[in-house]
Amino acid sequence: MDKKVSALLNDQINKEFYSAYLYLDFANFYEDKGLEGFANWYQVQAKEEMDHAMLMYQFMHNNSEPVTLEAIAKPDKTFSALIDPLKAGLAHEQYVTGLIGNIYAAANESRDFRTTQFLDWFIKEQGEEEKNASDLITKMELYGDDARSLYMLNSELAGRVYSAPSLVL
Ligand code: FEO
Repeated sequence: MDKKVSALLNDQINKEFYSAYLYLDFANFYEDKGLEGFANWYQVQAKEEMDHAMLMYQFMHNNSEPVTLEAIAKPDKTFSALIDPLKAGLAHEQYVTGLIGNIYAAANESRDFRTTQFLDWFIKEQGEEEKNASDLITKMELYGDDARSLYMLNSELAGRVYSAPSLVL
């Protein structure tokens, strides 16, 4: 594997674990506010992020690439309004989409089609993650100011169930 592609993938493992940590902190915020449904939604999201990290970890090992685990940064966001984590979540996913695109471009440039094929799943996943994040903001803007509606939205988000990723390596 091209050295640049390998380094970017290794770095992305760390960033996916950071995403998990960030979303766990979002869950933390909502737990403190008594919104356990919102907290559940982000706890499930945190598990998905760990899956993303582990898929990359395994892909690297399957291709005999070394993996170096670095320190995971402390989540650095502070929130006041209930909608704040939702907006930060969308911005974060847009950032991650850019990172995945950078790895894809580097792999494509080095004609590493095994890696581009692997990343195809992540390209699609980022589309879903941005849509999910955007939909949450829309719902919160529509219903978040009314206590009864917020209660129902919280109940809806409590129903999110974790399922393992569909990607098989
Ligand atoms: Fe691993 Fe939310 O993208």
